[in-house]
Amino acid sequence: MQISFVAPADVTARDRDAWVVAAGESAALLPAAVRLDKASGGALTRALKISRFTGKSGQILEVLAPSGLKASRLLLVGLGKPETLDEKGLETIAAQIVGRLFTSGETAANLEIDLPKGCKVKKADAAAHLAFGARLKSYAFDKYRTRNLDEYEKKLKTVRLVTPDVAAAKKALAGLAAVADGIFLARDLVNEPPNILYPEEFARRAKAQLSKLGVKIEILGEAEMKKQGFGALLGVGQGSARESQLVVMQWNGGKKSARPIALVGKGVCFDSGGLSIKVGAGMQGMKGDMAGAATVTGTILALAARKARVNAVGVIGLVENMPDGGAFRPDDVVTSLSGQTIEVLNTDAEGRLVLADALTYTQRRFKPKLVIDLATLTGAIVAALGFEHAGVFSNNDELVRRIQAAGRYTGERVWQLPLDPFYDKMIRSKIADMKNIGGANSGSITAAQFLLRFIEKDTQWAHLDIAGVAWQDSEQKPTVPSWGTGWGVRLLNRLVKEYYEA
Ligand code: BES
Ligand code: MN
Ligand code: ZN
Repeated sequence: MQISFVAPADVTARDRDAWVVAAGESAALLPAAVRLDKASGGALTRALKISRFTGKSGQILEVLAPSGLKASRLLLVGLGKPETLDEKGLETIAAQIVGRLFTSGETAANLEIDLPKGCKVKKADAAAHLAFGARLKSYAFDKYRTRNLDEYEKKLKTVRLVTPDVAAAKKALAGLAAVADGIFLARDLVNEPPNILYPEEFARRAKAQLSKLGVKIEILGEAEMKKQGFGALLGVGQGSARESQLVVMQWNGGKKSARPIALVGKGVCFDSGGLSIKVGAGMQGMKGDMAGAATVTGTILALAARKARVNAVGVIGLVENMPDGGAFRPDDVVTSLSGQTIEVLNTDAEGRLVLADALTYTQRRFKPKLVIDLATLTGAIVAALGFEHAGVFSNNDELVRRIQAAGRYTGERVWQLPLDPFYDKMIRSKIADMKNIGGANSGSITAAQFLLRFIEKDTQWAHLDIAGVAWQDSEQKPTVPSWGTGWGVRLLNRLVKEYYEA
């Protein structure tokens, strides 16, 4: 889909396309809507009278083949209350418009969305965020379809956003376009089936996509990790025919001496549960158990593509959790890179083992200013928070506050859950330093307590459990799992931009 900005004077020649104009509260037509209403002899006003349209955010009124105009259709979109109309709201509105045009089969549209009085977003930023929302909605993963392609094809090929200052809008979009690229990469990685995307293939794609942007990529294989002592991560991967990998991505856009911020991702390319094997229905969708790693990779791509003035490292542990004669067992004890021993009582609690070693490696090597890990870690977080919030756990309240603020701005919301010595007791082992499961309850918290054991004394750390948000967007039926939301790229990019960029 081609998305461009055009000045009002340059768009009149496109009068055969669909036109999308806006209304504020109480369906008050904004200037472009007034103009087209007049030109069509009052088509919008007449349609309003026989509809339920009230101007609420995202409402759409569609008039086909309006008389007096060459336009194929007129869409009136509601913007809601001006004081609450913000950047993420504009993104959502654009996505709703584009979604509607997809079902209509429209091929080209001009969006002239005037902002109501009282809206605080600048015109150029509004145009950029509308473009960003439209772009995000255009995502599709159709590479494995071979039949009925016409049915799946998105006919809308051209979107023009009418805005007074085209140059300013383009500038505002530059950073967001990088973020969209990062989100699309993350979605593609998650949606790719596990027979195609196994650890080495993930590593190859990360390298191919990021090194051309100036990101330094290192890939550690099993021999190297064995030498260094990654006993927890390698334990998870040892039942798989595929080799485990650790990928280290460095984007150095900040001052030479500045300590980096570090992002660590769980990259379980397929989670069968291992010998503690999942039941059939619970295994479906487990190709997406590398969503944390995908978000880290997408975020580093976004930072590099927009040349963020920050030093950032991404470290992802890539494994496949499979049962075979060589697989690790319940009752095994593994020695982590940190030296701490772990009694494995359930091989399906594998993500924390992968993260443990990745966290130790990251802290020892980079002495980061802060570490944020992302993982589809527990089913319990889905039970607790559903698909609307990720769980956040942290040893630093200021970091939580910042992540929450970035979440509110982008719409990728997080909810804090507690850490407490009481929960830590639940992972005591009878024979080793800890066990990899807690009790029957508070599963997301005991998982976080486990990770905390691998955080060094002075490290600022936050853990995001994204098991819910990574595989479901709320527009879909809750019963139909759909991976690949790309959750977290927007939030992390915003966090960096607001608080950590020079
Ligand atoms: N990858 C799963 C968590 C998960 C569940 C992600 C549903 C996405 C959707 C994780 O490795 C896992 O299996 N966790 C277990 C932990 C338990 C054995 C302590 C769980 O949540 O049941
Ligand atoms: Mn598991
Ligand atoms: Zn898992």
